[in-house]
Amino acid sequence: MGAEHYPPPWFSVAPMMEWTDNHYRTLARLISKKAWLYSEMLAAETIVYQTGNLDRFLAYGPEQHPIVLQIGGNNLENLAKATQLATPYGYDEINFNCGCPSPRVAGHGCFGVRLMLDPKFVAEAMCVIAANTNVPVSVKCRIGLDDHDSYNELCDFIYKVSSQSPTRHFIIHSRKALLNGISPADNRRIPPLKYEYYYALLRDFPDLQFTINGGINSIDEVNAARLEGAHGVMLGRAAYSNPWQILGLVDSAVYGAPLRSITRRQVLEQYQVYGDSVVRMYGLKPHIRDVMKPLLGLFHAEPRNVVWKRKVDAALLRCTTIKSILEETLGEIPDRVLDAPLTEVPSGSTDTFIKAKSLLPPPYTVSEEELL
Ligand SMILES: Cc1cc2nc3c(=O)[nH]c(=O)nc-3n(C[C@H](O)[C@H](O)[C@H](O)COP(=O)(O)O)c2cc1C
Repeated sequence: MGAEHYPPPWFSVAPMMEWTDNHYRTLARLISKKAWLYSEMLAAETIVYQTGNLDRFLAYGPEQHPIVLQIGGNNLENLAKATQLATPYGYDEINFNCGCPSPRVAGHGCFGVRLMLDPKFVAEAMCVIAANTNVPVSVKCRIGLDDHDSYNELCDFIYKVSSQSPTRHFIIHSRKALLNGISPADNRRIPPLKYEYYYALLRDFPDLQFTINGGINSIDEVNAARLEGAHGVMLGRAAYSNPWQILGLVDSAVYGAPLRSITRRQVLEQYQVYGDSVVRMYGLKPHIRDVMKPLLGLFHAEPRNVVWKRKVDAALLRCTTIKSILEETLGEIPDRVLDAPLTEVPSGSTDTFIKAKSLLPPPYTVSEEELL
């Protein structure tokens, strides 16, 4: 099934290693039918060297469409092979990671965000990936790294990659990366967000698609970003830590569908069936803990949430099924919370993107050197 059969990627959940695994994506899909879901980043080498074990890394339930596979790497041959091996799994788009600052990734030669310094290689990589798949390809990057943080340098990167490869969609994590040894978590907090670079890209590359990412925490902000022209909005941490209030409103508030009549009790009943089938199939450890992990955000900011999570932690030491963990602990959560329908609650500042549009850098002009 091609991307045109799905709702447009107006809202997506970011790729997050160890977070957006099959379990989280299963939960996410129970709550939103329309959000685009990204896999965790998978290194091309992991795919290439695990050919006997591909399902473990690449298989997912059919209900997870639309779903994008993110791959990382710096070896053209492996990227080609990895894409070939992933193709039968039917992902709806292949995304290439040019934004990860982790020393485990960026420190190993040119991989992750360091690739932004080598747009020629990124263009080659995107050609190789596109040649081995029949679905669209995209790049996820930052707005720069270290001292390479001018708007013009970002544009040079976008210009070279888009003019020398079939890439038409870029996801812009709107802060630069610092490769001076700060942790990946600090790299998602310390460098300031510059949404004005994102909006300037929309102005300067009108033929390309851009998704904005970084620091967006509510559905009101998602809609505010779109109102100012964003083609798509990607949320990471907020969609993970508060799936009910974020994903629960995507279908109605972003896509205009009727508000879904679901409750968290119903979501848990369905997720429990999935979770216990995983535990039965793959064994108790570490799977029962992994299956429970995405649920821990379901009662974000609700009364007794902290106590409930503490009880779950204790229950994980004894219980052998998700059903028994939920039976033993859900008494902590009031029925009025468990049975509450989704409601649209206004939240978040919505003038951030208007301000960003008043700060646009001067328009990009391709230098003669680039044109040659
Ligand atoms: C735990 C975690 C793991 C992440 N792993 C990846 C990854 O595998 N690939 C990637 O491109 N970005 C990764 N990111 C970055 C997110 O995709 C996103 O760009 C970043 O969190 C900013 O968006 P947010 O402010 O909405 O969270 C990760 C972020 C987190 C919190």
